[in-house]
Amino acid sequence: MFITFEGIEGSGKSTQINLLHKALEKVHFDVEITREPGWGAIGNLIRKIILENPDLDLEPLAELSLFCADRAQHVKDFIRPMLNQGKIVLCDRFYDSTIAYQGFGRELNPEFVKQTAINSALGLCPNTTFLFDISVNTALSRIVERPGRNRIDDESFDFHSRVKSAYLEIARNSSNRVHLISGEEDIEAVHEQIKEILSKNYSIFSRLRKK
Ligand SMILES: Nc1ncnc2c1ncn2[C@@H]1O[C@H](COP(=O)(O)OP(=O)(O)OP(=O)(O)O)[C@@H](O)[C@H]1O
Ligand SMILES: [Mg+2]
Repeated sequence: MFITFEGIEGSGKSTQINLLHKALEKVHFDVEITREPGWGAIGNLIRKIILENPDLDLEPLAELSLFCADRAQHVKDFIRPMLNQGKIVLCDRFYDSTIAYQGFGRELNPEFVKQTAINSALGLCPNTTFLFDISVNTALSRIVERPGRNRIDDESFDFHSRVKSAYLEIARNSSNRVHLISGEEDIEAVHEQIKEILSKNYSIFSRLRKK
């Protein structure tokens, strides 16, 4: 079972993935938690180029290629082997991020970006995606004081607005896979919604239901 978490900066992805990880382990699921970009030696090198050097003037097509290179390697070296062992894999961002950020944030050709992003997953599609929707103002206010701000955190309000709209379109177009949740609700309420959706849609997750 492959579950991904999406949304703009500060929407609550890392918070929720960690809570779900704990909740699943508590009821004895075998769970792996991972993120994009930056798994393994190759992924970490790519992450440094993409995110950790705010002064790099990275051409958007080069940025797209790096995110996709990271994903292909991550799927081949980690996600697929873990799924083959029967584990549940929770991933912080996956190809919807590329479609939203490079296709719409960076305003590359959206159809080309979509095909490239999907191809980079080597045929793997998330079973379920949780997408946290939040106003750009709330999101930016949450991350303003954060240490280790990255090149994409520092993008403009308009950039983040385009990404937010693109995510909403993805949710409309993939409503079977993508569950849209308000990221403005409090942390515990969002967590309860995630558990409810999983237990409603998959019998293996009925153990997550409140007793
Ligand atoms: N529902 C919520 N209500 C209020 N604050 C929240 C909520 N969810 C997360 N936060 C807080 O907002 C900040 C950003 O949350 P988090 O790091 O989970 O976002 P993120 O989506 O992972 O961001 P990024 O894309 O930048 O990694 C954290 O300080 C977190 O504690
Ligand atoms: Mg995060």
